[in-house]
Amino acid sequence: MAKTIQAIRGMHDILPGHTSLWQHLEAIARQTIASYGYREIRLPVVEKTELFQRSIGEATDIVEKEMYSFDDRNGDGLTLRPEGTAGCVRAGIEHGLLYNQTHRLWYGGPMFRHERPQKGRYRQFHQIGVEAFGLTGPDIDAELILLSRRIWEGLGLDGRLELQINSLGSPEERAVYRGALVEYLADSESELDEDSRRRLHSNPLRVLDSKVPSMQPLIAGAPQLWDYLGGESRAHFERLTDTLETAGVAYTFNGRLVRGLDYYSKTVFEWVTDELGAQATVCAGGRYDGLVSQLGGRATPAVGFAIGMERLILLLEQLGGPTGGDAPHAYLVVVGELARAQGLLLAERLRRDLSGLRLMMDCGGGSMKSQFKRADKSGARFAFILGEDEAARAAIAVKPLREPGEQRVLAQDELADHVRAVLRMGD
Ligand code: HAM
Repeated sequence: MAKTIQAIRGMHDILPGHTSLWQHLEAIARQTIASYGYREIRLPVVEKTELFQRSIGEATDIVEKEMYSFDDRNGDGLTLRPEGTAGCVRAGIEHGLLYNQTHRLWYGGPMFRHERPQKGRYRQFHQIGVEAFGLTGPDIDAELILLSRRIWEGLGLDGRLELQINSLGSPEERAVYRGALVEYLADSESELDEDSRRRLHSNPLRVLDSKVPSMQPLIAGAPQLWDYLGGESRAHFERLTDTLETAGVAYTFNGRLVRGLDYYSKTVFEWVTDELGAQATVCAGGRYDGLVSQLGGRATPAVGFAIGMERLILLLEQLGGPTGGDAPHAYLVVVGELARAQGLLLAERLRRDLSGLRLMMDCGGGSMKSQFKRADKSGARFAFILGEDEAARAAIAVKPLREPGEQRVLAQDELADHVRAVLRMGD
């Protein structure tokens, strides 16, 4: 036998038993996002490598070691997108969407990072991202947080996720803080683990993110970014927290929340859960007022977030979320040539007349018994049975497969109304 080929490590197939939960999650997210007036933008999966280097930052884990980068046949340096914000900003600048305008946008799709795969962390994963451009105030930061909360509500996850927020201030404020932090950490350089020592000069704020246990006392004693924020940054943050309180959104202030991408300023936030082990963040984002100009556009304030779909799916599965919603409503059993020809046309008519009906017609034939086995396996609620007898009389039998009830025989012309009534279609 020929050798089989496997998928790439960390890149997963989503099999039919799982896709209905994905569709459910996507539908709730889309409806919720649309209900706030956000519009979809579709972006390429591949961009120039330089885009990510200049936006996410050279000294981040993503750019340093996680990107799928390659030279294409023209010798251009390209990268499979590790996230969506950079591409969204690139598109906004390229198509003149940003200057002096406001835009509320969303996108979805696969992202790629060469991380060490484990539960909740993959090399191809999916995000739904939301980005708002042209709005400076904390009211839009609050709107995004409320929007995300409404998605959790729609999924029955309200109260299961904790909102952590912080302010990273302006780049100038952060630069002063960075100096103080480096000085503090350099004093205890021997206590730093290898990663933190490497980051000390390239990206010292990320040291605060270290999960290494021996580092925790040092991190706890580090200077606080909040103490370095100026009046405007503090006022922005306080207006945001006031709005969250008014709207009844519980939050935790986490002064050590720094995020793994360099483009943030002021508000940053993450929705975390303690039900997924180490990969606790299911949604993350913040303000990135400097990024548009950094990428060559005119200065435009911006804020957004992205949901990690796999993590949300894991959480929903763990909580016993809805599955199997895509089984057919009915399975049409046909015995005999006349019945098969008639059944085909009847099935076509039903699908046309009853939008939303999932009707599977038997293929392959065989005895009534073997067709019933297939009907049962399909998960259908009803079998429609068309034998030679029924075909001769333009009748059809309807048999419930998953609920009590007798088999009934109807005229084929009555079937659409009957199905509409029992499936409550059009309610
Ligand atoms: P991020 O924190 O890098 O932010 O990713 C957002 C979310 O994507 C994470 O919270 C997580 O749920 C999910 N995620 C990230 N990496 C993986 C992975 N390897 N496997 C599974 N899930 C993963 C961003 O990407 C920003 N672009 C978010 C943003 C939008 N900020 C402003 N606008």
